[in-house]
Amino acid sequence: MVYRFGLIGYPISHSLSPWIHERFMEKTSTKGTYSLFEFAQQTPVEEIVKHLKSINVHGFNVTVPFKQQIMTFLDEIDPVANRTGAVNTVINKNGKWIGYNTDGVGYVRSLQDKFPNLFKMTPRRALILGAGGAARGIFTALVQVHFDQIDIANRTKEKAVAICRHANNDSQVLSFEEAEARLADYDIVIQTTSVGMKPNIEQTIITKEDFPSAVIYSDIIYQPIKTKFLQQAEKSGAPVHYGHTMLLYQAQYAFEIWTGKKPDIGMMDDELEQILKGR
Ligand code: ATR
Repeated sequence: MVYRFGLIGYPISHSLSPWIHERFMEKTSTKGTYSLFEFAQQTPVEEIVKHLKSINVHGFNVTVPFKQQIMTFLDEIDPVANRTGAVNTVINKNGKWIGYNTDGVGYVRSLQDKFPNLFKMTPRRALILGAGGAARGIFTALVQVHFDQIDIANRTKEKAVAICRHANNDSQVLSFEEAEARLADYDIVIQTTSVGMKPNIEQTIITKEDFPSAVIYSDIIYQPIKTKFLQQAEKSGAPVHYGHTMLLYQAQYAFEIWTGKKPDIGMMDDELEQILKGR
């Protein structure tokens, strides 16, 4: 069988997904193609859906600005995607379109790969900085792997409160000032805001210089790979977790949904780091 995969979104011409999925196909001896279906921002999703159905795509990824809009055109939505409020992966299962969100699971997989001991600790406590779509997916995934405490700090408190409503583990909502004073209360602090992303690489959400060094600091931004936030953490002697690994693992989970095969990531994170550094 020759698979037909792709990505819908705008703008996507610089997307790394074709590289990642072509490597996965090679690694698992799967025949297929992964195409970029770039549609202008205002394109009615009906039109995109019509096109994808006409070419009989087996599975596709979804990115900005269609992650929410696609949901009304699906036959079924996985509970995690429903709770996250966004779909980034769709499988065409014998004509039935089913939507998933692989970000949260991908994030947790990348963490399990780099920091397996974190998952042996009890209690396990996480602080998420930010309360956007990515934070929501990560929060849901951390609940699923039984984190005992998951707190959120966000500029707009209501958004953090809305995410915490899904938990029954006494999640607290903090301001960034409170978060900064309480970093040592957590095993991992996960930066999910867009602050520090290229071109604003001098910005950071936590302004103090010295971070408690027994905490893992994670940033989901991958441009740049080493954000100011992670530089601060490294300078303090703390362990860090880079954002580009999440990209690989969320794609691995998508590939698994489409083909039933789980490709080995191997050295792909080093290769991806080199690609990103060259950009
Ligand atoms: P994503 O899907 O990548 O999570 P998003 O849903 O737009 O993107 O969320 C962006 C996050 O970055 C939000 O938590 C946002 O804070 P608000 O909820 O208050 O808007 C946060 N963010 C963006 N710019 C920020 C800034 N300058 N200061 C603080 N937080 C910021």
